[in-house]
Amino acid sequence: MNASFALKGNVCHTPAPGRLEIRERGIVVCEDGVCRGVFDAVPERFAHLEVVDCGDRLILPGLVDLHTHAPQYAFCGTGMDYELMDWLYKVAFPEEIRYADAAYAEKAYGIFAQKLKEGATTRAVIFGTMHADATLTLMDLMEQCGVASLVGKVNMDRYAPAELTEPGAEQAAADTRRFIESCLKRGYVRTGPIVTPRFVPSCTDALMEKLGEIRREYDLPVQSHLSENPDEVAFVGELAPEAAFYGDAYDRFGLFGGDSRTVMAHCVYSTPEEVQRMLDNGVWVAHCPSSNMNIASGIAPARRYLEKGLHMGLGTDVSGGSSISMFRAVTDAIQVSKMYWRYIDRDAKPLTFPEALYLATKGGGSFFGSIGSFEDGFVFDAIVLDDAAEPSPRPLSAADRLERAFYRELDRTGITMKFVDGIKVI
Ligand code: GUN
Ligand code: FE
Repeated sequence: MNASFALKGNVCHTPAPGRLEIRERGIVVCEDGVCRGVFDAVPERFAHLEVVDCGDRLILPGLVDLHTHAPQYAFCGTGMDYELMDWLYKVAFPEEIRYADAAYAEKAYGIFAQKLKEGATTRAVIFGTMHADATLTLMDLMEQCGVASLVGKVNMDRYAPAELTEPGAEQAAADTRRFIESCLKRGYVRTGPIVTPRFVPSCTDALMEKLGEIRREYDLPVQSHLSENPDEVAFVGELAPEAAFYGDAYDRFGLFGGDSRTVMAHCVYSTPEEVQRMLDNGVWVAHCPSSNMNIASGIAPARRYLEKGLHMGLGTDVSGGSSISMFRAVTDAIQVSKMYWRYIDRDAKPLTFPEALYLATKGGGSFFGSIGSFEDGFVFDAIVLDDAAEPSPRPLSAADRLERAFYRELDRTGITMKFVDGIKVI
């Protein structure tokens, strides 16, 4: 059973895009791991609960990283002077080859899990490598660190170095099945498997077909990459001429929403037809601005996606992205949206801070369920942030302090408490 308690402090959340609600010196109640809402004072019916006084600190929902690559954290912040396809071959794949070595995987994933635990992220959707055993080690470490996650053993049976190319669709699918069965046997409570075709260039039709079958059989969610880079999109056009657009090459195998809860990273170059299919099928977009800048992919039209009502959250995409921090993802999303407005589309208003915060909490959280808000009935994922190390010569409002904390990346040192599912992780 999860703990029941109340936190007292400056409670901030975004129940709707752009609607930032702040209750200064307010109360947020957690009952058996479920949020019961935000109040001015402890309601009579919760009078028996312990009240944890967080003083003048900020209390906000935990952040949801909708797309990241655990093995790539080892080179985070290096190897950035490439575009996607060169970057994969010169930087990402050489590192991923190392995860055939169990000792290396344990060491590298231990660092990744510890960093996630220390920061603001309470939930994440994660790529491992094509190695089933190393990916299970990653899941063990994620389960121990307390951050909730969906983790995928990556599938790739073409266009990769020999060490990362599975010998045929049969073998890749068998490995994915073994990986899923092992996850189920381990009885994780906050860690689950997700079906992971790396992207269309990495997967033959035969493998996609089998992954579609596995997804249906185990009723699992799906993650992949979509319309990230112009050369990649053109390559997919050559590889899958029968597909009407990039996303259709997943949809043909039941790997693009509909019955399957699916998140696609990037969507920088999605055509109107692709966006419509994502809307029709309820596919989530993981907007990854840091990665899109670093490997020069472009700028995803996040404002347009918000207006259309697409499901959307933010991803760090470590290590195309150069920071594991979701605080940084929030400000990056705002900044790239300003450049999009300035240089590309004067009708696409820049994202505001409350809109980007919504994406990083409730927007991405919806992929997991009722997550990312302090509304009654939501899962209690929260962080408590101390910004006292940043002095100000005049009093700041809680709203200013919250925005400042994100732009000044106070998640590096300021997270004093963290709860996932009502369980205290820090
Ligand atoms: N597309 C296929 N693999 C990758 C990856 O590892 N990172 C990014 N950013 N895009 C990809
Ligand atoms: Fe990625």
